[in-house]
Order: sequence, then C-alpha cells, then structure tokens
Amino acid sequence: MILVTGGAGFIGSNFVLDWLKESNEPVVNLDALTYAGNLENLQSLTDDPRHIFVKGNICDKELVSSLLTKYKPRAIVHFAAESHVDRSICGPDLFFETNVMGTLNLLECAKAYYDQELSENERSAFRFLHVSTDEVYGSLTFDEPAFTEETPYRPNSPYSASKASSDHAVRAWFHTYGFPVLTTNCSNNYGPYQFPEKLIPLVISNALARKPLPIYGDGLNIRDWLYVGDHCSAIRCVLENGKIGETYNVGGHNERNNITIVKTICAILDEMRPHRDGSYANLITYVKDRPGHDRRYAIDSTKLQTQLGWKPKECFETGIHKTVQWYLDHQDWVKNVQSGAYREWTAKQYGNW
Ligand code: NAD
Ligand code: TYD
Repeated sequence: MILVTGGAGFIGSNFVLDWLKESNEPVVNLDALTYAGNLENLQSLTDDPRHIFVKGNICDKELVSSLLTKYKPRAIVHFAAESHVDRSICGPDLFFETNVMGTLNLLECAKAYYDQELSENERSAFRFLHVSTDEVYGSLTFDEPAFTEETPYRPNSPYSASKASSDHAVRAWFHTYGFPVLTTNCSNNYGPYQFPEKLIPLVISNALARKPLPIYGDGLNIRDWLYVGDHCSAIRCVLENGKIGETYNVGGHNERNNITIVKTICAILDEMRPHRDGSYANLITYVKDRPGHDRRYAIDSTKLQTQLGWKPKECFETGIHKTVQWYLDHQDWVKNVQSGAYREWTAKQYGNW
C-alpha cells in the first residue's frame, strides 16, 4: 500500500492510473479536491478496490495520522500543492499554507508514524517522496548550462518560493531526524488531464473555441517540457531505487520557447482539425508580461539517467501530438473543468497583475 497526496490533480491522477496499470499494490489517494482536483480523471478506477479515495486536506493532522495508522503505507508520494504561478502572484497565502504548512504537517505525521508504528524492517523499507519542481533553481540566461542537483536555490515566484521552502523542510527532516526522504525536481509537464490554465492545454482549448491565444511578453521565454507519463515513470524509478536523502532532477532535454510551442500546437490543429477561417495561428495575441517572469528553465537529468537508469519515452514531437489528440478526444472533460471558479480567474487575468 502507498499513500498518494494530490492524486486527483494533473500529475497525481496520471501517476495513480499508471501505478495501478504497472502493479497491483493499492493506493490511498488523499486529495482536497480544490479547483485543480477532478475525480473524473479517475473514473476508470470507480469499481477498482485497489484505489481508495479520501477527500481531505494535507494540513489536517488528525486525518493524515489516522490514514497512516489505518492503511500502514510503505511509502508516501507527495504531489498535493497549489501549482499555478499566475495564481501565486495574485494570491500567495494559499500557496504557503498548502505547499509549506501542508508539507510540514505530512512530515510530522509521517515521522511520528515511522518512529512509533513501524517495525525495524518496515522502517528500512519506508520512503517519503516529495514531488517538486525545477522552478526552485530560478531563471537561466540563454547560454547558461542547465540546472543540476548542485545548482543553488533561487526561487523567484511565490509558487517557486513555497516549493523551495517545502524542499528545504524535507531535506532538514532527513539531516536532522534521519527520516527517509527522496526529492524529485521536474521540469514543466504536459499531457492528458492538465488543467486548462497552464500554457499547453490553455492554447489547445482556446484554439478550439476560437479564442485568443495569449503569449506573455515577447514569447521567447523557454521551458523544458516533459510528457507526464515520463515524469510518472521517473517517480516510480526514484521511489524504488533512489538513495535516501538525495534529490533527482527530472527532464527530457526538450527546451522550447513559448511562441514555438504555440505555433507547433496551431500547426498540429491545422492538420488534425482544419478550420474554414484559416490557421489557428491567426489567434495568437501578445499580452502584458507576467511580473517577474523567469526567462529560461533547463534541466540536466544526467544523475537520474546514469545512476538509476531512467529514460524518457517521449520526445516533444511525439508527446505534443498525443496531447493534442487527447484534448480533441476529451472536449467534454475540458468543458466540465471550466467551472465558475475557473472563469472568474481568467476574467481577472491579463493586464491586471
Ligand atoms: P495540480 O494543481 O494539477 O494538482 C494539485 C492537486 O493537489 C489537486 O488535485 C488538488 O485538489 C490537490 N490539493 C491542493 N491542495 C491540497 C490540500 N491542501 N490537501 C490535499 N490536496 C490538495 O498540480 P500538478 O500539476 O499535478 O502538480 C503536482 C505536483 O507536481 C505539485 O507538487 C507541483 O509542484 C509538482 N510539479 C508540477 C509540474 C507541472 O509542470 N505541472 C512540474 C514539476 C513539479
Ligand atoms: P505555465 O504553463 O503557467 O507554467 P510555468 O509558469 O510554471 O512555467 O507557463 C508556461 C510558460 O508559458 C511561461 O513562460 C508563461 C507562458 N504563458 C503564456 O505565455 N501565456 C499563457 O496564457 C500562460 C498560461 C503561460
């Protein structure tokens, strides 16, 4: 049994689905179902006894402790977080509450469980895997080398500052208490079930709705993109083979600037779903830049690849085709997640930072 937090979100739900495809080990899935959590992602597991869903908050000490006692997981895989940079700029408090205080609560509950409720053998097998981001390393210029595990932390947004704080707490729990942690720092993910506030699903869903495709600033900011299935396989690999106390960068060497990403999506849609009014690229609209917008992220995952033998399966070209196809095939999913709360948010955005 493993405990997953945030398993109804984008990466968490992909992870739970992949996990139960790859093994028969049951999953307890603790998720507060914020605007980003969606049980529709896990519909295929409705009658599957290997998936136990619990609606609840990672900040709830009693709930987390009781789940640990009841299900006795051999590992915790911690995804739950507030994850959108733009939202963190407009309302940072919740990011620190969930990402910092929530992680602290999980660490405290998990350590008490580890110390008091596990046998020696169970303790040596137990792992706490903290899922984090490359954004903690800050921004690179166009010609600096990619982030390694040795790159100093320089978080720039409220989101990355909150994730960096949680990474430091996880690190401290290993160094101070010997608590068996692992941390992964991954680059930007894309793929099925990503909420359409993030660049790739936003552009696909806006294009299909003939809405503007907003490009922040000059569109030359670079991200390093990884297909979500490859992130999930990296987490499984680190969980099974990672060295306690270590951090692992996860990425597939797919740096692209934003305008290239958006033009690529438009070209794929022009081919798959041609529109009588012409190319989707006509919808591209430059808007006011995000405050403090990091210029470039690039991740060096040599450590994970050479020490643990992980390799991504998808390159950007194969992954983005799969992703566009998935959104074309799941337009009802997009409609369903575009709730009132989400509309309120988008209405507030551009020009109003
Ligand atoms: P997401 O926003 O899609 O999902 C987050 C999930 O956490 C949701 O299901 C939400 O309901 C749940 N959640 C939020 N607050 C909670 C709380 N207090 N208690 C319990 N559940 C709560 O996020 P995502 O994109 O799937 O990211 C998952 C993790 O991976 C995050 O920790 C994020 O920092 C990290 N990460 C994301 C990316 C990316 O590109 N999306 C890249 C690297 C790392
Ligand atoms: P995003 O998907 O929000 O991820 P992150 O900020 O965590 O990297 O944004 C990816 C890039 O796309 C980032 O440089 C900001 C840019 N962007 C736009 O240009 N337009 C948009 O509407 C969004 C949401 C993002």
